[in-house]
Amino acid sequence: MKPLKVIFQPSGKRGEIQEGKTVLEASRELGVGIESLCGGKQTCGKCRVKILEGEFSPFSQEEGKWIGESEREGGIRLACSARILKDAVIFIPEESLAQIQIIRKRISERPVELNPTIKSYFVKLTPPSFYDLSGDFERLQKTLSDAHSLPPLHIDYPALSKLTKVLREGDWEVTVFVWMDREILDVKPKNNVKVSGLAIDIGTTTIAGYLCDLKTGELIATQSMMNPQVIYGEDVISRITFAMDHPDGLQILHQAVINGLNQLIQLITESSNTSPEDIYELTVVGNTAMHHLFLGIDPQPLGVSPFPPAIHQSMDIKGRDLRLKIHPSANVHILPIEAGFVGADNVGVLLALEPYNQDDMVLIIDVGTNGELVIGNRNHLLSASCAIGPALEGAHIQFGMRAAQGAIERIEISPKNFEVNYEVIGNSKPRGICGSGIIDGVAELYRAGIIDSSGRFKKEIRSPRLRWINEKPEFVIAWKEETSIGKDIVITQKDIRNVQLAKAALYAGAKLMMKKLGIEKLDKVILAGAFGAYIHPEKAMILGMFPDCDLKNVFSVGNAAGEGARIVLLNKEKRLEANEIVKKIKYVELTLEIDFQREFVEAMDIPHMRDSFPHLHLYRQ
Ligand code: FES
Repeated sequence: MKPLKVIFQPSGKRGEIQEGKTVLEASRELGVGIESLCGGKQTCGKCRVKILEGEFSPFSQEEGKWIGESEREGGIRLACSARILKDAVIFIPEESLAQIQIIRKRISERPVELNPTIKSYFVKLTPPSFYDLSGDFERLQKTLSDAHSLPPLHIDYPALSKLTKVLREGDWEVTVFVWMDREILDVKPKNNVKVSGLAIDIGTTTIAGYLCDLKTGELIATQSMMNPQVIYGEDVISRITFAMDHPDGLQILHQAVINGLNQLIQLITESSNTSPEDIYELTVVGNTAMHHLFLGIDPQPLGVSPFPPAIHQSMDIKGRDLRLKIHPSANVHILPIEAGFVGADNVGVLLALEPYNQDDMVLIIDVGTNGELVIGNRNHLLSASCAIGPALEGAHIQFGMRAAQGAIERIEISPKNFEVNYEVIGNSKPRGICGSGIIDGVAELYRAGIIDSSGRFKKEIRSPRLRWINEKPEFVIAWKEETSIGKDIVITQKDIRNVQLAKAALYAGAKLMMKKLGIEKLDKVILAGAFGAYIHPEKAMILGMFPDCDLKNVFSVGNAAGEGARIVLLNKEKRLEANEIVKKIKYVELTLEIDFQREFVEAMDIPHMRDSFPHLHLYRQ
């Protein structure tokens, strides 16, 4: 196969690629961002490009689902389907350009009792003499035991290799950094006090880091970035598939996340005037697939029922074994995993929100790329994972996009004249609708009486915004003059259907879990996750994303998983608590529940076919 010349417009980026690569693959190699919400599986229709020159593989059946006859004649193709066979010039329209996602990963910074695994001790040693010829390490051990009642300690090799020099450099006055009262990680001359730790949340889409001072517990800096694995697949399943389908797939994904973390470490330490070498511990949460890929463990079994993980329990390993650029002896603590699709991120959420210490019956919905549910109180705790599909992330929605610049994130529709008010991320012209926007949009279409409880557009509505194209209705949210893509941004019947499928999965899951616990009402609902935090609680309830609850007790919280990682970083006892929760919580495999299908069908209605929402009416009066 010979190399071909490819030019991408309008950026003008160009380079050589091997014949037979898809346009999407070529764009990745040449550093051009094309939107690919499904990771190249031809199921999202977001990677549309226009062919200007060249020869490509024939138009596929899959492409026909997304591209109409006239567009096809105009040279529109799906980048993940069209393979390049000759030198080519390809145009990427504005709506297909990958945007930098707005990363929203704030945490609540709840006070945590400081009890870290890393402690530093300043000690003065008696220098050797003819009367005391003990070795440097034994001398240090004894001093620590006498002065601080520490048990006999191990010493990590990098610390041992420098010990002799440091003791003499410090004139026998040194600071010793000890992990878990068990192992010496470092010895520095004189009184050296900087000790930092980094809490990391590896999300499918974003990675967030929280740098803390382990002497004071203070949060020194936060930093987020896109998970670099995104280019190999947008969701967990497409990453697992990538790892399976490519001989070096696992290594590529593992290396991508490690490189990303090293970049994040660099950025967060630079921004806070600390050094990567001051980071003595890293705590990590992430869903099960991210956990495995971070550790370089084959995630294949996670993609096949019954989805067993390689390991459930928490782990401590050296950062150097993962080639993390932090202190050479630093420890990496990874939180335990509950079940195949309920991972260490969920354990982090539980630690942050502590439903197991409350009398109130709490439902926690962690809406990310996957939906995770926890329900319970101090007596019972159930967890489940919900396949909500990618609709709430923008895929399978005609004008869906990520939460990036130009995404409509809030929508209001007047029930009187059906006029629309919307808010756009970055205050720019809109180019699509993100997850919280589509939830708002469908809830508002219902509230304004434009769609009925089955989600269908009402034929009797008269408004220029509601139009029927080939008998298919759509509602205009933004007219083309207002948008940056030169097209009307609409919500279609199919979009509404996809949102209904996602919300019904969450509702049915919550309802089945409530039944299992024998309860009929919820005291509290918490919407967590980077995305959940931006969902408008009332709109989510109008839509029927969760069973009725007093809206005063429905909260959106920030990144609770990341908060959990921070908690175990600052307090080692919480690690024991994490292992206890994993034993206590019962995982419900929703797909095995006989009633799931019936509950799901009933939950497709807005807000629900049977269940009443007294608090919704109360609130609106
Ligand atoms: S359809 Fe091409 S990336 Fe989704």
